[in-house]
Amino acid sequence: MDIRKDFPVLVNRDVAYLDSGATTQKPYKVIEAVDEFYKKYNANPHRGAYSLSIEATEKYEGVRDKVKEFINAKHREEIIFSKNATESLNLIAYSYGLDNLKEDDEIVLSIMEHHSNLVPWQKVCEATGAKLSYMYINENYEISDEEIEKKITDKTKVVAITHVSNVLGTINDVKKIIKLAHKKGAIVIVDASQSIPHERIDVQEMDTDFLVFSRT
Ligand SMILES: Cc1ncc(COP(=O)(O)O)c(C=O)c1O
Repeated sequence: MDIRKDFPVLVNRDVAYLDSGATTQKPYKVIEAVDEFYKKYNANPHRGAYSLSIEATEKYEGVRDKVKEFINAKHREEIIFSKNATESLNLIAYSYGLDNLKEDDEIVLSIMEHHSNLVPWQKVCEATGAKLSYMYINENYEISDEEIEKKITDKTKVVAITHVSNVLGTINDVKKIIKLAHKKGAIVIVDASQSIPHERIDVQEMDTDFLVFSRT
């Protein structure tokens, strides 16, 4: 099966596109859906009583249902739209983080986080006096069980971890991390930006408190 024919940008280019970790190419189906929305339904969702706005609202809310099914969330209200993963991570840090963290609480990150899951937590630490603690990797570029157990302690209030690393390709055992964090009374934010296109994610089974990803 020639999957390339689904991607117009590749049709007249004799290249293998290998930069999907940064930006994925869009297949016809996606381009056509965006095009159709702008041609037939574009209006302000939730803010108008006229028919076009109501149709736009239905389309917009329909996506919430699809995303709920896609990650097997319990309630559609759990799905929060943002501009991208960076904005979602900032939103969690500036809302949950600033409201709930205090001096000497610990935020545990891995050393392989994307900047978008590092800088917001540095800002939260500056504002609250909480401390950052990093889980380091071993010679196989993995976080060992010992490292997880050493860094997630009774002081830990937040663990923010990437599911799959955009630099190393490491797949972190987030279920193990979540289980231990919950035992210690901490919440977990999983950055699924790199895993969501590659594997089925079931948020109820994973038991994460927040899951963040972008549509690219
Ligand atoms: C692991 C990871 N987290 C976060 C981001 C930021 O994503 P966005 O561009 O949606 O803000 C990226 C982008 O490549 C990423 O690879």
